[in-house]
Amino acid sequence: MFMIEGRKAQCITVDGQELIIFSSNDYFGFSHHPDVLKASAEAAERFGCGTGGAPGTSGTTAIHRQLADNIARFKHRDLAIIFSSGYAANVGLHQSLANDDTIFFSDEKNHPSAADGLKLSGCDKRVFKHRDYDHLEGLLKKDSHTRKAVTTCSVFTLDGAICDLDRLARLKEKYGFILIIDEAHATGCLGKTGRGLEEHYNLTGITDYIMGTFSKALGSQGGFITYSKDADKLLSKPLRPFEYSTSIAAPAAAASLKALQILESNVELIVKMKANIKMIYDYLNANGFQLNTSGKHIVNVYFESHKKTMQVVEGLHRNGYFVVPINLDGRWGLRLTAMAVHTDKQIHDFCNKLSGMETFNK
Ligand SMILES: Cc1ncc(COP(=O)(O)O)c(C=O)c1O
Repeated sequence: MFMIEGRKAQCITVDGQELIIFSSNDYFGFSHHPDVLKASAEAAERFGCGTGGAPGTSGTTAIHRQLADNIARFKHRDLAIIFSSGYAANVGLHQSLANDDTIFFSDEKNHPSAADGLKLSGCDKRVFKHRDYDHLEGLLKKDSHTRKAVTTCSVFTLDGAICDLDRLARLKEKYGFILIIDEAHATGCLGKTGRGLEEHYNLTGITDYIMGTFSKALGSQGGFITYSKDADKLLSKPLRPFEYSTSIAAPAAAASLKALQILESNVELIVKMKANIKMIYDYLNANGFQLNTSGKHIVNVYFESHKKTMQVVEGLHRNGYFVVPINLDGRWGLRLTAMAVHTDKQIHDFCNKLSGMETFNK
């Protein structure tokens, strides 16, 4: 594991060496945006570094309240609840929705936090093949539970694949299930204004529960669920990770709040981030790399073996770049992302280096 000695937006320092990151979820560099840092520092002055309590005790500041209101509005919902992480949000939501009449249908590539929530809920569940909605329909058809819930990522973490909301909407109409989407990697990144899957498909309001995190595109920490007043009554049990865990620190909440405000008034950041990742994709594609094609803002580049992948990771490291190796369905490679703050030169130099290394190592 790397020990990071310092970080400035797209650059980290490891063992005294500065590395440019091409595998971060901080898609806009908000973790280091000057206005975000300022808002966070002001919140630390006003509220301190920790809340010292769960949301129901001393853990809800005016900033937490405003963040909940703003993320709900951003997602076109009435209510939002903030958790200490996206992981906690997923666990709490799935547990709370479960009752004896409920069955969950879960995409096999859902994040472990959704899977753990299902496990803890003790509820019946069926796992459907990744983005295979014929398989899902087959399972729905056969099932006799009175309450069905379908849970899926909108953008899948490892390869950036997007779930088919059109198809899910038609299935929902036919089978009447509760729809839960995990927007950890969609919030800020998917849709023209970053509102996520519903905006991407022009299907606002179709989802019952949207879960997300402040730890990726918004550059800070904490998770959320957001939903309409109607959906509130479906939450049948207490949201335990909300009730029994200290709330995020006010500086983290203030950072997310400011990042969200900046994103809403600077849609060009989304355009820039997408142009940057397209630049990487186009360059590597033109140079004969094996790439995934499903993602919009996550690019996987594959190599023939684990050994080759690690050679590339170490070679890039020696040359000043930080990337993350992945194994996807038995194939080894890199999970690449671009940040809005990468310069064209940084991207070109990185792609050149990667291309040179691939040829050199063949
Ligand atoms: C799809 C998905 N859901 C949930 C989470 C958990 O979010 P957090 O890191 O805020 O706990 C992640 C984080 O990796 C994720 O990728």
